[in-house]
Amino acid sequence: FAVLFAGCTGTETPTTTDTGAKQAYVIGIDAEYPNFTYIDKDGNAVGFDVDSAKWIAEQQGIDVTFQAVAWDSIIPALQANKIDMVYAGMTITDERKEKVNFSTPYWTINQDVAARNGSSVTLDDVLAGNATVGTQRGCTAAIWIEENLIETGKMPAENLKQYDNTPLAVNDLEAGRVDAVMYDDLVLKDIIAGKPVSIIGSVETNEQFGIAIRKTDTELLETMNEGLAKLMADPYWEELQTKYNMA
Ligand code: ARG
Repeated sequence: FAVLFAGCTGTETPTTTDTGAKQAYVIGIDAEYPNFTYIDKDGNAVGFDVDSAKWIAEQQGIDVTFQAVAWDSIIPALQANKIDMVYAGMTITDERKEKVNFSTPYWTINQDVAARNGSSVTLDDVLAGNATVGTQRGCTAAIWIEENLIETGKMPAENLKQYDNTPLAVNDLEAGRVDAVMYDDLVLKDIIAGKPVSIIGSVETNEQFGIAIRKTDTELLETMNEGLAKLMADPYWEELQTKYNMA
């Protein structure tokens, strides 16, 4: 576990290590992003994206390791060579594309909104800017709220509460410190499972996930795109979706 986090505050030296025949690429993930990437009770990186990355690595003859990085500093970590890829449910956006390259898209999501069971908060309240909303710092839900609710003057900026990860936002939702949480649909469903919290609506943002890679690593981009194409054409792709309840 300690090793996994060791590089978060590491040096500026490239993380890619030459191991002779193969190179080990460091994949940046999020420890709290079920079921795409998370850390199990034994400290291992697991999830849909993690298994996908391992399968692609095997097929393409590369080695990969995983390292958890705070979401709002994950692109800077990539640019500073602390990690070599972000394979962790990252939405492809024009703004991010100015900084990194993205693989071909492999998944599509929308933003779901959750509230405490029994609370009177509605999706309309949220969209009118009349509710406090929690989400992960730097994620596309936060960006959507900033662009569509705060910058348009509908919502006071202090109504958006940003957390290092979404489970922390859901804790505050349960405790009544925020009225709603907005986040990537499947992931929010996993995070609220078994809690007195329900999905009250959805915002169709139609976001596509891609693997982020440094602009200079064009060969690695090609390797990952090839691997993704193989994966998405293989029966394992469906198996993984079943394994992680992604239907
Ligand atoms: N899809 C959203 C985004 O790109 C949230 C992704 C968060 N991913 C994560 N591994 N925490 O901003």
